[in-house]
Amino acid sequence: MTSTPGPDGTSRQPGISSTTASLPVAAPLAHEVIPLYGAEFAADPYSVYDRLREYGPLAPVEIAPGIGAMLVTDYRAALELLHDPDTWSKDSRAWQATVPPDSPVLPMMGWRPNALVNDGDTHRRYRQVITESFSLFTPHELREHTRQVSETLIARFTSRGQVDLIAEYAAQVPVLVFNRLFGMPDSYSAQLVTALCGMLDANTPEEAVTANEAFSAYIGELIGTKQVQRGADLTSWYMDHPAGLTPEELASEIVVTMAAGHNATTNLIGNALARMLSDNRYYSTLSSGGLTPRDALHDVLQNDPPMSNLSPHFPTRDVFFHGTWIRAGQLVLISYAAANTQHGRTAPGEAASAGGSGGGAHLAWSAGPHACPVQNPALLIATTAIERLTAWLSDIELTVPHDELVWRHGPFHRGLVELPARFTPITPDQAGATPWASSSPSSSTQPDAMSTARPTASAS
Ligand code: HEM
Repeated sequence: MTSTPGPDGTSRQPGISSTTASLPVAAPLAHEVIPLYGAEFAADPYSVYDRLREYGPLAPVEIAPGIGAMLVTDYRAALELLHDPDTWSKDSRAWQATVPPDSPVLPMMGWRPNALVNDGDTHRRYRQVITESFSLFTPHELREHTRQVSETLIARFTSRGQVDLIAEYAAQVPVLVFNRLFGMPDSYSAQLVTALCGMLDANTPEEAVTANEAFSAYIGELIGTKQVQRGADLTSWYMDHPAGLTPEELASEIVVTMAAGHNATTNLIGNALARMLSDNRYYSTLSSGGLTPRDALHDVLQNDPPMSNLSPHFPTRDVFFHGTWIRAGQLVLISYAAANTQHGRTAPGEAASAGGSGGGAHLAWSAGPHACPVQNPALLIATTAIERLTAWLSDIELTVPHDELVWRHGPFHRGLVELPARFTPITPDQAGATPWASSSPSSSTQPDAMSTARPTASAS
């Protein structure tokens, strides 16, 4: 073996595996770096993770053409890194200076004055604003908002008998909930859907710019509205938090809350529905109490985590980590998906004991100081959305087999392009059987209970 690990790159330690032993020292060699973007990765990321594991706990990858990173695929190495903020920084500024300014990964990883990309006391200050503000909502309020927006959305397609559960449901529930939590009336939700769903679906740089402009316009209007009149909402609580955010920090904290939450919650709902609707064990829940939406959500967090690879970190010094030298400032990502499924994966429709990891700990929320601060609210939103859908459309089923579903491209998320389903249509004249019927047991709460600034309006 010729290799001598040194802090001059990402060279492998000899003897980690037979495959590793035959790898050249200098790393990562361009032709060996495995891309985490494109159709092949999107179609079967778990085979790619199997290949990456042959390198040992870390492997060289590309997250966009020409943008390399080391990916941690080992569960214990991931935990160790995530719990060692002295060695591993989240501050992306030095790395960002080495990346083309129009790189597609910068929207996810670029530096801003918010919780996601700062360390230490600065991070704690930003994070407290988010955790303490979310804690002012009771679970009952969150559930009610989610129930109402879910039923508003369901009502739009019940008479059709078919629906794309991503575009028409999973992608919209979090947006409509955020619009309310941040204190805007439902009449503003369409603007936020255009912005957030537009950013998710942008196929060209021009579409991305248009969606970004729509998002900036929405945030500007949101802040302007709450400057005039505060309410019992996240925007007002962020503004008045003792941390004393500057206007730039305020905007950045609102943006990171919505941007971090939207895609992940969409994928959580979408991936869980995809598993439920292709597995007969869930159909029995409707009559005989078999597996529940909670089971599906846990199954997804373990086996198809909504964020697959993220937690960008940069070592503060050259470090020899689980057999690999990493240079100070070099980009390292955590593969929650690979770490979770290191000892097996439960495929959709498969009982956990049939071969996959049967539950227990997972890294779907990350871990350590930057772990998702909104786990319980996110789970509550996803659970309520799924429960309302399956309660109203009890025979809903997929129109394509699970293994023919198409997944979004990209290194960071695990989410479906669409989730076509069919069901027996419900018509509005079926008294008491429609989500929007006044006899609905849960139609008593005012839609705009959280907003004090503007008159109530229905979701559009
Ligand atoms: C209401 C919905 C959600 C909101 C508002 C939200 C918000 C946030 C925020 C603000 C952070 C940054 C925390 C920090 O750096 O200290 C974060 C991190 C994270 N969230 Fe969430 N989140 C939501 C839902 C989800 C869901 C459904 C998942 C996946 C199961 C998820 C997974 C993560 C992960 C993995 C991180 C760490 C990212 C990193 O360090 O790069 N989040 N979230």
